[in-house]
Amino acid sequence: MTNIVDQITGHRRMRRNRKADWTRRLVQESRLTVDDLIWPVFVVPGANVVEPIPSMPGVNRMSVDRLVEAAKEAADLGVPALATFPNIEMSLRDETGSNSLAADNLINQATRALKQHVPQIGVITDVALDPFTSHGHDGILRGSEIVNDETVEQVAKAAVVQADAGSDIISPSEMMDGRIGVIRQALDEAGHQNVGIMSYATKFASAFYGPYREAIGTGGLLKGDKKTYYIDPANGTEAIRDAALDVEEGADMLMVKPGLPYLDICWRMKEAFGLPVFAYQVSGEYAQIRAAAMNGWIDGDRVMMETLLAFKRAGCDGILTYFAVEVARALAKKG
Ligand code: PBG
Repeated sequence: MTNIVDQITGHRRMRRNRKADWTRRLVQESRLTVDDLIWPVFVVPGANVVEPIPSMPGVNRMSVDRLVEAAKEAADLGVPALATFPNIEMSLRDETGSNSLAADNLINQATRALKQHVPQIGVITDVALDPFTSHGHDGILRGSEIVNDETVEQVAKAAVVQADAGSDIISPSEMMDGRIGVIRQALDEAGHQNVGIMSYATKFASAFYGPYREAIGTGGLLKGDKKTYYIDPANGTEAIRDAALDVEEGADMLMVKPGLPYLDICWRMKEAFGLPVFAYQVSGEYAQIRAAAMNGWIDGDRVMMETLLAFKRAGCDGILTYFAVEVARALAKKG
């Protein structure tokens, strides 16, 4: 008797490997572990403050003392690192983001406290000026221009101040040309040879950053857009060229941001450079999943896991995600 399907498939049947939980586990190609997670957190001044962020349900801004407690839980769960972002008083924000250079600014206070109380967790700090400027741009605004070289000089100084406070990895996100090389040199001259650089190598001019801007209080401040320094979402080859410069200038790790809409870039980056590549599942991606889950339209937990696994499949070494602690808890339960 001839079976028409066997004739077509030549007896090759993909479903044999999918037939049971144990076969599926045996052939699983990508895995998500707690070691893949970096947790972005928002810091506010004061003590004992935990402030919900309306557009990011489940994410809070925390004062340094509460951040330390949260970091302890994350460390106990095995999360390797945090990425900290400050929401500073409006009165401290100015045209040049001068507070970014203050040794005791909010971000450096957070780093010192984390290093003192939770030394086992890595601290990654951003040197972009947007949390510190009165106009919400990542660099220094002169007339209508975000001036490149002056900004690079300042972020390199901010990087040294952050490293002095104990930051383990400097993560420049402001997309100025030449920043990685200048920051590397400044860190080395200050004796911070062991402080790494995770470059936001490919940061796109994306609409997915909306809730983050609410979280750090720049939403209402931002004049215009960031298209003169972030990458056009249409451009993949340009993104790889930009990352290549960062690699030449000494980046230790690379980042792709946003995440899920840019999986092709993750894959290309990993293929092109072989350096560790991290995806940032940004605030808008988080908000989409949360909002749909809260409406009962998707199974939020499963979608969260599926998106993170997709990053692994696309070649990423890890993911910056607001879900980090939730995922770590779920993975710990699974054992
Ligand atoms: C800017 C910066 C952005 C994010 C982190 N740092 C983008 C922006 O505001 O333009 C976005 C993170 C997120 O959306 O989760 N230096």
